Amino acid sequence: MRTQVAIIGAGPAGLLLGQLLQVAGIETVILERRSADYVLGRIRAGVLEQGTVDLIARAGCDARLRQEGLPHAGVNLCFDGKRHRIDLAALTAGKEVVVYGQTEVTRDLMEARAAADARTVYEATGVHLEGFERARPVVHFRKGGIAQTLECDFIAGCDGFYGVSRQSVPEGALETFERVYPFGWLGLLADVPPANEELIYVNHEDGFALCSMRSPTRSRYYLQCDADEKVENWSDQRFWDELRRRLDPEAAAALVTGPALEKSIAPLRSFVAEPLRFGRLFLAGDVAHIVPPTGAKGLNLAASDVHYLSEALIEYYGEGSSAGIDAYSARALARVWKAERFSWWMTSLLHRFPENGRFGHRIQLAELEYLVSSDAAAASLAENYVGLPF
Ligand code: FAD
Ligand code: DHB
Repeated sequence: MRTQVAIIGAGPAGLLLGQLLQVAGIETVILERRSADYVLGRIRAGVLEQGTVDLIARAGCDARLRQEGLPHAGVNLCFDGKRHRIDLAALTAGKEVVVYGQTEVTRDLMEARAAADARTVYEATGVHLEGFERARPVVHFRKGGIAQTLECDFIAGCDGFYGVSRQSVPEGALETFERVYPFGWLGLLADVPPANEELIYVNHEDGFALCSMRSPTRSRYYLQCDADEKVENWSDQRFWDELRRRLDPEAAAALVTGPALEKSIAPLRSFVAEPLRFGRLFLAGDVAHIVPPTGAKGLNLAASDVHYLSEALIEYYGEGSSAGIDAYSARALARVWKAERFSWWMTSLLHRFPENGRFGHRIQLAELEYLVSSDAAAASLAENYVGLPF
């Protein structure tokens, strides 16, 4: 098999890159370790920045997003039992975010790829990258027990944090930066109307909570939990009781409970690997960087990498120029670090850090008070939350 760009991973980064290149007439093959159904079964992000929406539109995959996505012009912070609204639109000259689940983004991109007859090999195992430091990279893999090779001009490693692409880079060529937080998020998805029309981020002395949603009839809630907590310890009833306790009285009264469709625990981590290019191998998305979920930047950061990488490859094939490819790593990383900073800051502001004690909690409350009483402080939050420009 031969293609122009071999893409490893059919998550949002791989699928979006594939579709942007497809629209520009560049051929790709995606190799994905899991089945399509497995990929669609993972419940993850829910908030899209305007830049991400625009990119999905450029890929021609925004029809359902325009119909079903929920634009949000504000977001709420709750602390000391009181809720305060941050008017995102007013503080950013009209910018908003759109609530539309990662599952739906993935489904739309998969359908567009199938309609364009672009090749995706699902359940491709034993993916092994070779020769990316030379002119003709090769990807080896197995499908249904049969060994195959894919020759290409470039490899795009979009295979997530545990993927093979970053691990294929020679030791010493990569520098990594990491912070692991001493807690996780317990998430619950249920077919109940959201407790509030907009998201509520909660700082409670017993820990963070978040009210989010997927649609007017489907809610997504999160609770800060211990890093080694087990999902089995949390009955639906225990989850709902704890969530209600952490909310302001109005949200607590509006909370509608129901059976969980999904419940899972995600660890919190900040991680960056540099650089993002090794010869003809590029890294994009979670394979190269992880943010803690507070602030909803993970999927949006994968999209901004893909923006820079797709532009670079389109320039290479269209004009024969390597300028974009040469600049990719530095351009993408400049934005990555700003989102790392914002996600770390939102996490620090809203979670309970036992080691910081009562002093740390009072400092958080002072900063939250400042945020909701100063337009200058709120504007900084708002401009980062809606997404810094690409
Ligand atoms: P992924 O979505 O991880 O896709 C990578 C793909 O590569 C996967 O399909 C994987 O199966 C495949 N792959 C891996 N290894 C191989 C291999 N060796 N060969 C072939 N294919 C391979 N972000 C938010 O903003 N808000 C959230 O609430 C949120 N919750 C999250 C919860 C969890 C449990 C996780 C893990 C992430 C969450 N994120 C969240 C982050 C967000 O989902 C990611 O940033 C986003 O999925 C990144 O997209 P990606 O395409 O880079 O990686
Ligand atoms: C969701 C996740 C986030 O991390 C966040 O900051 C907001 C919303 C969500 O899953 O809906």
